[in-house]
Amino acid sequence: MDAAKNPFAPGAGTQPPELTGRTVNLERARIALERIKAGRPERSSLLIGLRGVGKTVLLNRIYEMAVRSGYHAVFIESPEDASLTELLVPPLRQILFRLDTREGVKDKLYQAMGALRSFASVFEVKIPAIGLEVKVAPGLADSGNLDHDVTDLLVTIGEAAKEAGVGVALLIDELQYVTQKELAALISGLHRVGQIGLPLIVFGAGLPQLAGLTGKAKTYAERLFEFQTIGPLNAQDAYRAIEEPITKESASIDTDALKELMDATEGYPYFLQEWGLHAWNRAPRSPITVEDVRSATQDAASALDGGFFRVRFDRLTKGEKEYLRAMAELGRGPHRSGDIAAKLRRSVETMAPVRANVIAKGMVYAPAHGDTAFTVPKFDEYMKRVMPEFSPHTPNRKSGK
Ligand SMILES: Nc1ncnc2c1ncn2[C@@H]1O[C@H](COP(=O)(O)OP(=O)(O)OP(=O)(O)O)[C@@H](O)[C@H]1O
Ligand SMILES: [Mg+2]
Repeated sequence: MDAAKNPFAPGAGTQPPELTGRTVNLERARIALERIKAGRPERSSLLIGLRGVGKTVLLNRIYEMAVRSGYHAVFIESPEDASLTELLVPPLRQILFRLDTREGVKDKLYQAMGALRSFASVFEVKIPAIGLEVKVAPGLADSGNLDHDVTDLLVTIGEAAKEAGVGVALLIDELQYVTQKELAALISGLHRVGQIGLPLIVFGAGLPQLAGLTGKAKTYAERLFEFQTIGPLNAQDAYRAIEEPITKESASIDTDALKELMDATEGYPYFLQEWGLHAWNRAPRSPITVEDVRSATQDAASALDGGFFRVRFDRLTKGEKEYLRAMAELGRGPHRSGDIAAKLRRSVETMAPVRANVIAKGMVYAPAHGDTAFTVPKFDEYMKRVMPEFSPHTPNRKSGK
């Protein structure tokens, strides 16, 4: 069918033609935003899930929802090597500039601007001159202790927002890349903001390791956040995600073709978009048949191998690739770390640094202590395709390693 009219949208954070299966998450976000705005207590949320399940898309929807309901909202993606403090300062500064400067509101605003200025200077974050004639606020966000200073910053901004009668929403993607120190500081700040009842809320998203990281950063974190698991779509939602965009283009798809799509993708949103795209392109005419879907499987798989999987594979060292290949040899997982090491004919201790690295790179996570699983769905199958031979290390007899 006409590729120019193809509605499907595989991509990172690309809005799908039809967002299905997330009504509960969107409704929770709506309630949280309303409650915070009304000065009622509400927890911040963390959206947790594997690669390609739709966390970024959802976070973007929540961002739009916040803006629509009058929030000053900021969307930040935490890259692997930048610091959260650096990322936070410029958008927070922007928010403060947009806040009301009427008499009576001004004092809190200037205080927040002063705190931001101190904070930027203490943590050496380069920002353009603050602009307004703002003095640093001595004693606020200038201790050099990240926990205290982030708390001061969030509290003064929350107070300024409260005075101005608006809410502040911080949306932070890829939160698993934030250092433990920064995560701890963010959590401390939010804790305080919540205690005082200020209108500031965070929606974070990240890989499954995020749940453990927050708990490690602060033990009380699990009470501070609502953890929402974002998973694959169930059959009904997956069918809708495929069928509705097709119907909107005045075409149709057979029921057994939908079933075939569900089997091939297991309901993972990224895969659904990829398969949907290729099934549409393969089909000579409407309706899209099960044969069209089958012949699209090759196209979809090579598109994934060349993109979604490949970009992740390319970031691995030789040793890390071997580790993941050994995992794949064992099957889909999760696997015991001991079993993976044994497959590699190495000890758990020898492999521990490699395991730590692939966790830090966001390739695997520990669903339970001593377990290891892929964060990318179907990565085990890909590893076998890209490295067909599994040749474990031959132990060096002398060293015994
Ligand atoms: N609920 C949904 N229904 C249909 N398609 C969806 C849904 N959610 C996401 N998608 C599609 O899935 C793909 C991946 O979405 P997104 O980038 O938000 O995932 P992610 O969880 O952020 O992945 P990553 O961990 O790699 O950043 C996109 O092409 C998007 O259009
Ligand atoms: Mg994402």
